[in-house]
Amino acid sequence: MKHIDNLPTSPGKFKEKSAYIRLRHHFSLAKTTFWTLAFVGLIYISFFRSLHIAHSDSSRRFLRTSFYGPDWEKRVKESSKIGSGNGNGVCVLVTGAAGFVGTHVSSALKQRGNGVVGLDNFNDYYDPSLKRARQALLARLGVYIVEGDINDEELVRRMFDIVEFSHVMHLAAQAGVRYAMENPSSYVHSNIAGLVSLLEVCKSVNPQPAIVWASSSSVYGLNNKVPFSEKDRTDQPASLYAATKKAGEEIAHTYNHIYGLSLTGLRFFTVYGPWGRPDMAYFFFSKDILKGKSISIFEGPNHGTVARDFTYIDDIVKGCLAALDTAEKSTGSGGKKKGPAQLRVFNLGNTSPVPVSDLVSILERLLKVKAKRKIMKMPRNGDVQFTHANISYAQKELHYKPTTDLQTGLKKFVRWYLSYYRDGKMSDQ
Ligand SMILES: NC(=O)c1ccc[n+]([C@@H]2O[C@H](COP(=O)([O-])OP(=O)(O)OC[C@H]3O[C@@H](n4cnc5c(N)ncnc54)[C@H](O)[C@@H]3O)[C@@H](O)[C@H]2O)c1
Repeated sequence: MKHIDNLPTSPGKFKEKSAYIRLRHHFSLAKTTFWTLAFVGLIYISFFRSLHIAHSDSSRRFLRTSFYGPDWEKRVKESSKIGSGNGNGVCVLVTGAAGFVGTHVSSALKQRGNGVVGLDNFNDYYDPSLKRARQALLARLGVYIVEGDINDEELVRRMFDIVEFSHVMHLAAQAGVRYAMENPSSYVHSNIAGLVSLLEVCKSVNPQPAIVWASSSSVYGLNNKVPFSEKDRTDQPASLYAATKKAGEEIAHTYNHIYGLSLTGLRFFTVYGPWGRPDMAYFFFSKDILKGKSISIFEGPNHGTVARDFTYIDDIVKGCLAALDTAEKSTGSGGKKKGPAQLRVFNLGNTSPVPVSDLVSILERLLKVKAKRKIMKMPRNGDVQFTHANISYAQKELHYKPTTDLQTGLKKFVRWYLSYYRDGKMSDQ
């Protein structure tokens, strides 16, 4: 009769109570299962995450120690050796060594007997095979380029641990005015964050190196007082590239002021020559003229001439070396300033602007092909109409005296261009 004891007072109540209990039971079971699963899941996720972090950390460390191991150290040391020429105890870290200016400067330094070690991240802003070819060229001269980013402070510190660099020639940067509208963060990464990272290392090592670095004529921006003098205003940049170079000059001031770093900024004016940059007009005009493609020649408002103070690479190299040779020692140590240090900015230009249409006429003659010219209004993409350097300060302090006119320089460029690309290295052509 037990079942009778369990009989409900009304059939409905019984039914209701039993459904409720079942439901409660069901829910508490589901709840427990849910929380158990969630808990186990959490443990599972955090376990695998920590495993992953540990793995990527250790693989990164492994990569670093294997890639930057004893063999690497040996190559860095070899490259930094000062030659028997007039090396004068000068050992230079050249950033951006696989770049156009970096290759020429590294080669000139090595050939006069200085120790040289390069650093470059070989990015693909333009055809990296050209950077690799420059790397091979420098390797033949005994210059080793470490592959890495200037933002990698650990790597740069390691290089300073191995070699006591007396100077840094800082040429690594995201160059190009127009590309800044496409990839603005690459300019912040290399020209601002990268510069700060590099200076952070330079300020803390002992002895601190003297630093010469590439600013740009683009800092003059909308300035229309010609020729451009270092005393002119530079607070109206026309492109993000220019703004990052201007920021670099202010950052240089800060590190000089606080830490006693000796800093020399060089404002290059449209550098051209063999092993040049494919994103620059003289380079891609040559390519397009040879291909029979039309080329766009810009004009300013009211059919105004667009002109550049084209400066031949050898003249720039002389200016860079003179800046290094006249750079005074940094004054800080242990990350602290011990006295005032040298802070300079120089224009390095040719002092004779040439209209872009004249540049095209010279190329036509040298390439023996008539260009298909398309005259267009200058787009608002950061380019300025005119550049013209006043170089009297560099003349006085560096004995800088450019000697190559555009016709002569372009002849050398065209000779190189034809032989380089004729040899089948025309990967992006
Ligand atoms: N060529 C010119 O007409 C001109 C004019 C004014 C200023 N500049 C300045 O001169 C310097 C050299 O210019 P270039 O014409 O040889 O340019 P480039 O692009 O040929 O050389 C720059 C090199 O720096 C490297 N690089 C860029 N970001 C890096 C990073 N974060 N870490 C390590 N390496 C990095 C690149 O891979 C490249 O090889 C640059 O600072 C540029 O802004 C050049």
